[in-house]
Amino acid sequence: MGGGGVETDRAAVPTVTIDGPSGSGKGTVARLIARRLDWHLLDSGAIYRLLGLAALRQGADLADEAVLVDLARDLNVAFPARVQDDQQVLLDGEAVGQLIRTEDVGNAASKVAALPAVREALLQRQRDFRKPPGLVADGRDMGTVVFPDAGLKIFLTASVEERAHRRYNQLKDQGLGGTLSDLLREIAERDERDANRAVAPLVPAPDSVTVDTTGLSVEAVMAELMEHIAGRFDLQQ
Ligand code: DC
Repeated sequence: MGGGGVETDRAAVPTVTIDGPSGSGKGTVARLIARRLDWHLLDSGAIYRLLGLAALRQGADLADEAVLVDLARDLNVAFPARVQDDQQVLLDGEAVGQLIRTEDVGNAASKVAALPAVREALLQRQRDFRKPPGLVADGRDMGTVVFPDAGLKIFLTASVEERAHRRYNQLKDQGLGGTLSDLLREIAERDERDANRAVAPLVPAPDSVTVDTTGLSVEAVMAELMEHIAGRFDLQQ
């Protein structure tokens, strides 16, 4: 079978996309859904973060598109498990799961993600995650650009205050620093950059279902999302 056949087969793989701003809870629920269904997980933000980390380590100019495209093409990353824990994210064979979660790397990721040629260079890498029995893809442009034919598209959102609080608690749990006011400012800045960039801005796909998670527990969000999933896919195999 030729390359076209492989792409056709991929299109048949049931896919749920979960897009939204950072702190909306999409990472948590995408992982829980992938575990529950035993589907693959694509944490596309981790790929941009890995590129951000590689760029910072190399001392690259984060606005130099040509250098960053080369870096993106050569990026030696691995996600050994179907639903990986952060510990299993590898850059050049080194476990960097914790390192990529820092605010510095997040900001670098947001900058390199604004470069169109960088996004293009990372496109196929992301599409390759679509394998049987199914895929849960978490990011900003999963439903709009990377998997426009996904069977179910979710747009997850929450107020900026709630998202800053969640990030603050997350960082505290991991023993990482950050004050609430700094986080509020950084999240608002990153939202602005992610929503207003020329390529693949953070916008809901027209055929997506929007879920506002402000004030909702993870369990409540999961219950709502699993209902949408059960309504869209045949899960009886
Ligand atoms: O979801 P996250 O915070 O791990 O993402 C890190 C950065 O990567 C974020 O600022 C936006 C960018 N990103 C993107 O542009 N497109 C994606 N599909 C995922 C993340």
